[in-house]
Amino acid sequence: MVLEYLDRMSLTVVAEDSVLYESPYWGQHGVSFLVEAYHHNIRKNTLVDVGQNHEALLHNMKEMNISPEIIDSIVLTHCHYDHTLGVVEMLRAIGKEDLPVIAHPSIFRLNFIDNPYLRHVGVMQVDSRDQIEANGGTLYLTDDPFQLMPGLITTGEVKRQTDFEEVGIALKTINEEGKIIVDSMDDDISLVANFKDKGIVIITGCSHAGIVNIVKQAVEISEKENIESIIGGFHLVEAPLDRIKKTVEALSEFDINTIFAGHCTGFRAQAELYHIFKDKFLPLQTGMKFEF
Ligand SMILES: [Fe+2]
Ligand SMILES: [Fe+2]
Repeated sequence: MVLEYLDRMSLTVVAEDSVLYESPYWGQHGVSFLVEAYHHNIRKNTLVDVGQNHEALLHNMKEMNISPEIIDSIVLTHCHYDHTLGVVEMLRAIGKEDLPVIAHPSIFRLNFIDNPYLRHVGVMQVDSRDQIEANGGTLYLTDDPFQLMPGLITTGEVKRQTDFEEVGIALKTINEEGKIIVDSMDDDISLVANFKDKGIVIITGCSHAGIVNIVKQAVEISEKENIESIIGGFHLVEAPLDRIKKTVEALSEFDINTIFAGHCTGFRAQAELYHIFKDKFLPLQTGMKFEF
């Protein structure tokens, strides 16, 4: 697939687990990014995930002078509540009809843990398919790469190519035959922005598909070898050190300019990323703004 190019893009971290030093923003366990993308004379604003606390998200947007009404579409990177809870509240705040909500077809499935106790961690009832549609959202559920505008596309379902990556949590689901099976987080998608001179920017939620698998897929989709930035969560918070080292080593074999990883990346993985990437790495924090 030959991808077109965005003219420019800015990305603002409107929700994340930590906040910039001395900033007025509120942190939460979850992420949300505002992506403002420009192609020719068109500017479209995409909210990537909504965190899990819309009050904190709306507080931050107000502090940043971002009106929810400017949002043109929402991408949900995967089902987890810390990325999807309050999407209906956000649709209400945006106040539009037929607002595209892009996600994988399996996003509304049961997705649970049973240790330390039974708990559904996927899309909550308040954000059900019906509620989304009743509040102005039009669902685009696909496992294919989905273009939001020329130069801005989702990865679609991510092929698992590495042997050292896995989802990072013991998640289960129940299949159509009523059998309890391991949930492999097939719904984990990322966003790829393409730029003529800079290469691609990859925006991830939790990288349950494995950040190396995601980067490989983004490179395949864009047919670009150079990666300007990777921004998001890598879900290595509970990963063994061996996997962390293999992951960072594999990333170092790509042509990556900068990495901004936070949320579920975890301190040990952040330390390893810093160790290898030095000043090309920074922990992700609420309030950061990137211009491409
Ligand atoms: Fe997460
Ligand atoms: Fe997650």
